[in-house]
Amino acid sequence: MSSGRLITIEGIDGAGKSTLAVALEAELRTRGVPVELLREPGGVRAAERIRELVKDPDLHIDPRAEALLFAAARAQLVEDAVKPLLRDGTWVLLDRFVDSSLAYQGGGRRLGIETIREINEFAIRGLRPDRTLLLVVDTALGRGRLGARARPLERLEREQEDFFRRTAGAYLELLAEDPTRIKRIDGSAPPDRVLAAALEAISDLL
Ligand code: TYD
Repeated sequence: MSSGRLITIEGIDGAGKSTLAVALEAELRTRGVPVELLREPGGVRAAERIRELVKDPDLHIDPRAEALLFAAARAQLVEDAVKPLLRDGTWVLLDRFVDSSLAYQGGGRRLGIETIREINEFAIRGLRPDRTLLLVVDTALGRGRLGARARPLERLEREQEDFFRRTAGAYLELLAEDPTRIKRIDGSAPPDRVLAAALEAISDLL
């Protein structure tokens, strides 16, 4: 039995996941919770190599290959890092997990949520988040925040508005399906309010 908790952070690009992840990690540490922050795709060496592939704007990657690459990176991260940490009693804060694939590849790429769930089941072998914090922002706000970053857009970020609308829609479907695990947080609020809402959403686990 694992005693660590798995908390995942989800949302479309520009929703504010990474800002929340860093703040929540610091707050949990302050409260004496042993916690490690990891990100997807990546987090361990082999998965970081896959991350370079899936982000490269010069590559054409077929949607099915893309779904399998994200699942492969996830399988590696789960075996090498997430499961051992949880077994040791460490909490794992994960910036994206299976729901990202369900939303982006299932919804955005229109491969279907159930198909993507199946390949991910193979990859993660039953691991379930204890709680998922879904940052919800208007797709236009998310896109605007991306454009304001001082770096070129990555491969998936170059997708059109309707791709992100389908992705955001799939996230809301997942929320409706499992409101006990997934908690909706307003990503347009200031960072301190987002952090407070996240702490409230995991208060029963603390
Ligand atoms: P992310 O690391 O959140 O981007 P950044 O750190 O630059 O904010 O995710 C990289 C991209 O990969 C992002 O556009 C979302 C996408 N993605 C998927 O399409 N499916 C997945 O399963 C995952 C984990 C990410």
